[in-house]
Amino acid sequence: MKRSTGQDRSITAKWRPATQAVRAGTWRSEQGETSEALFLNSGFTYDSAEQVAARFQGEEPGPVYSRFQNPTTAMLEERIAMMEGAEACRSQASGMAAMTTALLCQLSAGDHIVAGRAAFGSCRWIVDNLLPRFGIEKTIVDARDVDAWEAAIRPNTKVFFFETPANPTMDIVDLTAVCGLAKSRGITTVVDNAFATAALQRPIEFGADVVAYSATKLMDGQGRVLLGAVCGTAEFINDVLMPFQRNTGPIAAPFNAWVVLKGLETLQLRAEKQSENAMVLARFLEERGVKMLHPGLESHPQHEIAKRQMDAFGNIFSFDLAGRAEAFAMLNAFELIDISNNIGDAKSLACHPASTTHNNMGPEGRAEAGVGEGMIRMNVGLEDVQDLLEDLDRGLKAVGL
Ligand SMILES: Cc1ncc(COP(=O)(O)O)c(C=O)c1O
Repeated sequence: MKRSTGQDRSITAKWRPATQAVRAGTWRSEQGETSEALFLNSGFTYDSAEQVAARFQGEEPGPVYSRFQNPTTAMLEERIAMMEGAEACRSQASGMAAMTTALLCQLSAGDHIVAGRAAFGSCRWIVDNLLPRFGIEKTIVDARDVDAWEAAIRPNTKVFFFETPANPTMDIVDLTAVCGLAKSRGITTVVDNAFATAALQRPIEFGADVVAYSATKLMDGQGRVLLGAVCGTAEFINDVLMPFQRNTGPIAAPFNAWVVLKGLETLQLRAEKQSENAMVLARFLEERGVKMLHPGLESHPQHEIAKRQMDAFGNIFSFDLAGRAEAFAMLNAFELIDISNNIGDAKSLACHPASTTHNNMGPEGRAEAGVGEGMIRMNVGLEDVQDLLEDLDRGLKAVGL
């Protein structure tokens, strides 16, 4: 192996986040490649029978099988852990694989979970439909209300699970208050940080135990691959998550991990610039009388909390039009902004959550989660902001605004 400081935590821990995003986790093969190598292999060979035995018994470091870990996924995991301020991280095949793994690895029949009401549709599906099938009880709360979290605690409560900002209502959860409450009652917090990423918000600094990701979003940043990650203490990752992951197999593909490794190198720049573009568009829409849901706007009820825990407010926001017909008319009028249910992309995208990402919640579930029929969710990209403003203006005119 060639010299690389990327694996040496006594060095990488001193680096600032933007440096970690480019270099942490990197190690080099004997070829001395500059860019991280893509190890597209499932198995490994050994110098001796003793060596493989030592690896399987955890007495010697090194790969044994790519369902457990692969040199490329290992580089990504170390990089994400460093950026997050976590002791360890493991990558998964998608964001939903990460959420499922983060919850199922620690919950058993008879346990109780409390989860935020506003959440990505599939995250709610896991809590509402999957966990109860295995005897795991649930309570859904308005995640903005700290008293509601406290009131929901039962003797068997094991996990608090929420997103902040939440998809697509942009609810903000007070990380310090909710994670502090959980800690004082011996409950593990699992925070879905997909909207902000470590470039803009590091929940562990505010007391979170586990941070779970859809890296498909801003971390990849160019709409190429699906990937997920779970970060936490070394004890949680090695002793709780890994037995589940290595035996059930939701591991990330090395190619996808490599794509996200390269995506992370530009994450800070993209997150900052896209957040800046999003603020310009959000202010423009608000001035035109549109009801905005953006934590960076003073009109957002939790703007002050967002300012405390986020470095910038992210590239995603939502807004409410009169109804589904108006939302569809606006989406259909865009020339530049694509109609797409993905987020985090460098291309600006817009979607109608009620008929797409949150369709499976049903009308009652959506009403409870605050996902209105006239809601549009915008992913603001890296295009010239002037072109985006002109496209939004086109959309507003199509609905008479
Ligand atoms: C907040 C949030 N969590 C999780 C996911 C799931 O991620 P993936 O599509 O990578 O499975 C999404 C996807 O849209 C999301 O928005």
